[in-house]
Amino acid sequence: MNVRTRLDFTKFTPAPRIADNILDLVGQTPMVRLHRYLDVADVNLLAKVEALNPGGSAKDRPARHMIERALENGRLSPGDTVVESSSGNMGIGLAQACAVHGLKFICVVDPNAQAQNVAIIRALGGQIDLVETALNGDFLAARLERVSQLLREAPDRFWPNQYANLDNPASHQAGTIAEIDQALPGKIDYLFVACSSTGTARGCRDYLHKAGRHTKVIAVDAQGSTLFDGTAGPRKISGMGAGRLPDLAKGQRFDDVIRVPDIACVAGCRRAVAREGFLVGGSGGGVLEAVRAMQDTLRGKTVVAIIHDSGSRYLGTVFDSDWVERELGVSEPQVLALAGLDAPAA
Ligand SMILES: Cc1ncc(COP(=O)(O)O)c(C=O)c1O
Repeated sequence: MNVRTRLDFTKFTPAPRIADNILDLVGQTPMVRLHRYLDVADVNLLAKVEALNPGGSAKDRPARHMIERALENGRLSPGDTVVESSSGNMGIGLAQACAVHGLKFICVVDPNAQAQNVAIIRALGGQIDLVETALNGDFLAARLERVSQLLREAPDRFWPNQYANLDNPASHQAGTIAEIDQALPGKIDYLFVACSSTGTARGCRDYLHKAGRHTKVIAVDAQGSTLFDGTAGPRKISGMGAGRLPDLAKGQRFDDVIRVPDIACVAGCRRAVAREGFLVGGSGGGVLEAVRAMQDTLRGKTVVAIIHDSGSRYLGTVFDSDWVERELGVSEPQVLALAGLDAPAA
């Protein structure tokens, strides 16, 4: 690794671009080479750093695209209200897009929503609509029922519905994977993508097929997710997997599916920090551990892992050893052992 210790003013660096508004900074995220994450040296592993989108995640892309397409085709007009059920990255991306386009935003959440995300959505001008009781024990059903009710109440309301909206995968087809392919045209052997709506994985796969690339797309799913014929079970890492099969995911096939347990996501996050100084979010930890599980078959290959967001969104969960012990029943020394890291000296 080259370490430059002094600033070199003689070297030409292009001037940073000036964007017209914050949404113009969505996309064009960089990739970083991960030299030390794996145990083998001959895998060319690159991570696409989606946390560098202005709202902090890959979801800025579909959020922007779904809103702008609806504005273009007249389903939305300035001053209208967008309604969505999300307490995570999509809620943040939509709040940001609505603020830029002069739209109101109602975000339907339940008591399990992470307080930090709710605070960001509010700070971006979103109105939080809290569903307090589950419908037959199911909070997702209760949130969707509340969305329908809000849509019925007024005609100027629009539901992007990221789990069924084809503009979701289209944003990744035109952006995420197009940028990766532009950097490494036809040179990627494997692409690892975490899945929930499957918008990212679908968009990437469709681009690669159309471009005639040989890249194998590996869908990374959570254990306990219903995607890809999985069986529902408890899951604690947000952004990974789905409790009920989204319309977008129906019938979708990828070159391989790897299911990771929650604790592997935690271990991957710890390892990415310790080995690379890279604070990745829970799904990013899972994706990197899926790559590590396959490292022996990846030798000599170029591999890209999409890292959807930053660990800064998970300080009270994945990066909190009390939370990990309480929710997943795994102690800190066990996490470090799973991550292949030495415990710090006492
Ligand atoms: C952190 C994180 N990782 C991965 C995903 C999965 O992305 P997709 O919905 O495109 O499958 C999401 C989606 O919410 C997410 O928030």
